[in-house]
Amino acid sequence: MSNQTKTTKVGDASGRGSVAGYRVNFPARMRTYTEAEIEAVVNVMRNAEVQTQGNYMRQFEADFKAYIGAKHAFALDNCTNALRLASILCRIGPGDEVIAPGYTFCASAIPFGATGATLVWADIDPQTWVVDPQDIEKKITPRTKVLLVVHLLGMPVNMPAVMEIAQKYNLRVVEDCAQAPGASINGKKVGSFGDFGCFSLHGAKNITTLGEGGVLTVNSDADAALTPGLRHNGVRPFSGDRDRYWVPAMSNVDMDMEGIWPNNFSIGEAQCALGSELLKTLDESNDKIIAQAAKLRAALANIPEITFAKIPDGYRPIFHQFVLHFNGSAFGKNRNDLLDFLTEEAGVRAIVQYYPLYRYPLFQRLGMAEQNCPVLEDWWDNSFSLPWWIGMPDETLDYLVDSVKAGISALKER
Ligand SMILES: Cc1ncc(COP(=O)(O)O)c(C=O)c1O
Repeated sequence: MSNQTKTTKVGDASGRGSVAGYRVNFPARMRTYTEAEIEAVVNVMRNAEVQTQGNYMRQFEADFKAYIGAKHAFALDNCTNALRLASILCRIGPGDEVIAPGYTFCASAIPFGATGATLVWADIDPQTWVVDPQDIEKKITPRTKVLLVVHLLGMPVNMPAVMEIAQKYNLRVVEDCAQAPGASINGKKVGSFGDFGCFSLHGAKNITTLGEGGVLTVNSDADAALTPGLRHNGVRPFSGDRDRYWVPAMSNVDMDMEGIWPNNFSIGEAQCALGSELLKTLDESNDKIIAQAAKLRAALANIPEITFAKIPDGYRPIFHQFVLHFNGSAFGKNRNDLLDFLTEEAGVRAIVQYYPLYRYPLFQRLGMAEQNCPVLEDWWDNSFSLPWWIGMPDETLDYLVDSVKAGISALKER
């Protein structure tokens, strides 16, 4: 392998999008839009007078709340800001601790770190590969205020166990559901268990509202009452009946939480109209990707070097990504050797998602490099993602299977 080959194949920072030289790329989006979805956007462009915070937003919030089974839902510009609102509403700051998964996308943790609280990293469950409630409980101290859990890769965290711990220690629970809209445990959807659920409608997610979007679900009426002002510059109507609608002015501006400046985290009407349309087929598209994952798992099931996350009874993971764990220690090879084969010889743009957060300079500079996540350390060094999207053709699935098998056979010979 020459340096030339490697440098010309470098894609964007996430590894997504078409990169010349690959037979199977890692796509930048999970699926294409249907005509009904395109029509929903065009209809707002053509006909809606109000372009933001109008009836489409209210409808989308009602649809989302009903779909998730949460008490309240607020449409936002992205999930990072849903997490930011949740972190504000948790009323935390310097001296407090938030237990967060050591492994997730950085946006899960950044809003909590930004409050001045300290992030304490929890390990993953060796079976399901998402944050482990037992490790969370071990890391609780008198300073702990919030448990942040992430249903990463579409796999639900064991929420009944997390909620029991939260009750025992009187802690607030934030669910990062960015990668798991529609995932559930015994029929109860993620985002309806904790105090807050934070959803992403970013361009790479299973459903997207034109590249950016998010939703915050809120389970207490008191928190929900504070959210609209925090979301939109503290704006609200002047109270009471007014003889003249312009006196003293059109709207009032106030502070919902003492000492907290409001923000503008609003999302436009066209995105909300699209969001409502996307919810209509979300279960169907989740069924499709679940079936696709089952097929790929079955085809790779008899390879002793490959393992997958275990799906506990009653769990419905929605496979935002297709992740494999490779153990080539019996013949002295590792994950990077297999990826060299897949990328350079099979033309399969496999990727390694994220980095354990405590290894990133951002968290290290802020004094949060300390970790005690032995399961994650081993798992991360040996895991990778295959190219993945909803509606992958059978011949592509077959090619991925053949490539993984050929890679392992080749590594055994070398
Ligand atoms: C687990 C997780 N949390 C949070 C985010 C942030 O979402 P957004 O891009 O909508 O801000 C993402 C994705 O981008 C994510 O994957």
